[in-house]
Amino acid sequence: MRTLTIPRPDDWHVHLRDGAMLASVAPFSAGFGRILAMPNLVPPVDTAAAARAYRARIAATGAPFAPLLATYLTDRTDPDDLEAGFRAGDLVAVKWYPAGATTHSDRGVTDVRHVAAVLERMAAIGLPLLVHGEVTDRRVDIFDRERVFLETILGPLLDRLPALRCVVEHATTRDAVAFVRSRPNTAATITPHHLWWNRNALFEGGLRPHAYCLPVLKREEDRQALRAAATGGDPRFFAGTDSAPHPVHKKEADCGCAGVFCAPTAIAAYAQVFDEEQALDRLGGFLSQHGAAFYRLPVSAETVQIEERAWTPPECIAIEGGTVRVFLGGETLRWAVSG
Ligand code: DOR
Ligand code: ZN
Repeated sequence: MRTLTIPRPDDWHVHLRDGAMLASVAPFSAGFGRILAMPNLVPPVDTAAAARAYRARIAATGAPFAPLLATYLTDRTDPDDLEAGFRAGDLVAVKWYPAGATTHSDRGVTDVRHVAAVLERMAAIGLPLLVHGEVTDRRVDIFDRERVFLETILGPLLDRLPALRCVVEHATTRDAVAFVRSRPNTAATITPHHLWWNRNALFEGGLRPHAYCLPVLKREEDRQALRAAATGGDPRFFAGTDSAPHPVHKKEADCGCAGVFCAPTAIAAYAQVFDEEQALDRLGGFLSQHGAAFYRLPVSAETVQIEERAWTPPECIAIEGGTVRVFLGGETLRWAVSG
């Protein structure tokens, strides 16, 4: 049996939600030492004080990871509040949702010009900008929205503010990989599901709402580019699961929610991808080191063991009033976190 010892991984992009859902899903991120919680609650976590309060609610679940917070950028975000929160450790990053791009993004940025002063301040103080990189123009084909965002919005922004530290969150395309490689101070998170599936998974024998997330799955050539980026050892690419739980009845609906709940299986799935790519020696970089370096935090002093062992994750987990479907639930995985 092959085993691997790596520093404890971090999840640099996760939706933990709030209230009863938070209490139900937080324990499933226990494999990670630090998690960066996304702020798209209702109402959004859009001030340093709101981040502090949300962090306390996450900590109160007793989940054995350190929660870090990103605040939600709005047209009215106050640069002084961000700077104070960053210096106090209430937030480590700021998340830019283009208004209308995804779940609970309606309070997001309507025009990059509205946040120019905030972005200038962030560039000056080294506060990272996390980007949901998709244009919201309905005339742009949904499979092109990431590429068009990078070409028409983020590229010109970073040309003006090259010092801005930026993460293309949940990168889904070959174009995003090339974008990150070509720019200083830019990184990307990659999800397990975008490494695992291409867009055919959405239609495999019928319509598959549990494979629907945003940015939507792309072509096989994109998945191959993501696998090469994740497993290639380049420190600009690191793990961010984008684990995004929705109750089954909201996924299997006329207008189903976007999101894949992958927290319970993410580390195993990443390990299997690295094994398939013959890159297990680089798994620790992707899961445990590159993100910490980007966020200027120490690599975890704890270690975890990952072992080659077949196991079958549950299809669903129970939540108050329903269930949430688990990414790869019911399938046989080949790697497991020991213990
Ligand atoms: O699939 C997604 N789900 N993509 C996002 O950007 C948001 C997330 C959610 O919060 O459900
Ligand atoms: Zn997300």
